Amino acid sequence: MDKKYLSVAKRHFSMASADIIIIMDKDRLINPGIISSDDRVDLALRPKRLNEIIGQDQIRENLSILLTAAKQRNEPLDHVLFYGPPGLGKTTLAHVLANEMGVSIKVTAGPAIERAGDLAAILSNLHEGDILFIDEIHRLNRAIEEILYPAMEDSVLDIMVGKGPSARSIRLKLPRFTVIGATTRLSLVSSPLRARFGAVYRLDYYDQPAMEKIIENAAVKMNVTVDDGGIKEIAVRSRGTPRIGLRLLRRVRDYAQVRADGTINEQVSRDALELMNIDVAGLDDVDRRVLLTIIEKYNGGPVGLSTIAASISEETDTVMEVVEPYLLQLGFIDRTPQGRNATRKAYEHLGIPYNDQNAPKQGSLFE
Ligand SMILES: Nc1ncnc2c1ncn2[C@@H]1O[C@H](COP(=O)(O)OP(=O)(O)O)[C@@H](O)[C@H]1O
Ligand SMILES: [Mg+2]
Repeated sequence: MDKKYLSVAKRHFSMASADIIIIMDKDRLINPGIISSDDRVDLALRPKRLNEIIGQDQIRENLSILLTAAKQRNEPLDHVLFYGPPGLGKTTLAHVLANEMGVSIKVTAGPAIERAGDLAAILSNLHEGDILFIDEIHRLNRAIEEILYPAMEDSVLDIMVGKGPSARSIRLKLPRFTVIGATTRLSLVSSPLRARFGAVYRLDYYDQPAMEKIIENAAVKMNVTVDDGGIKEIAVRSRGTPRIGLRLLRRVRDYAQVRADGTINEQVSRDALELMNIDVAGLDDVDRRVLLTIIEKYNGGPVGLSTIAASISEETDTVMEVVEPYLLQLGFIDRTPQGRNATRKAYEHLGIPYNDQNAPKQGSLFE
């Protein structure tokens, strides 16, 4: 499929963007976004209770206190904002909180709420204690945010009735409810909106033991036979991201079924993942192209993200939300006000000789 055409299509059909994204990213296995129908299988694998959540210990502990306190006071949960790269469990946690509180959860997303009336309809259908989950909350438009503020703070809905000189605002009382917001881009959430959340949590990449446990649990639920070596091999290439780990597990299972006897061991995992071009650091072609662009085209950097994205014909958002955070985490790139630099580690990973000429050009000492 022609990427350019698709990105135009995506802009034109923003309401159907989920479907368009499905087409766009089909070729990218390690895209942590929701990309294909087999991600629906994830629903069955999704932890339902807080104690089934693996990793994110600090968040789990904080949430447990938040939940217990709200339950003891017999009050709705405070508004919660989750942020962090895609695929780390923001949506899962929102559902877990609803389960733990024993309330229902209504799910929507920033771009889906176009008009004030859309939000008013959602809000006026909530019951006491309900959770309203707003995914991609950074994409809410400002006019909608204005309606959300009094709803979050005082449980009231101000709506305009009539037009022209006879227009007036009436105030409706809403049940007390909880907003759970999720975003991959905290910096794009306006500060007045951020201020309405009583608790803000940053989800981070999972460490190797947590990823192994997540993959192991999923394998049990999926009835796949996999040994420790096989689990390790998949976990190490999962970019610390559960959604990717689960997806790689499914692809390795396919490989094991077709090319081996169905059992996943270290060798089978490695062969399968190498066939998918996912290297030992969990990088795929897009990540490597980003690094190679910085190194070969821009002499190690610094170069801006949008320039990199343009030169490899990728969406800037993908590079910003998916590629960059992980490369930063690995220490393969450095961030300076002038742009991104490739680090010595990146050169070593790609097997490119590093010399002092490649060292960061800027005095990044004080940044
Ligand atoms: N802590 C976790 N333990 C086990 N599985 C998890 C965990 N976090 C996420 N997952 C799995 O990863 C998948 C992606 O999580 P999701 O909540 O959709 O991520 P996000 O909303 O941050 O993009 C889910 O299907 C879920 O099964
Ligand atoms: Mg999500």
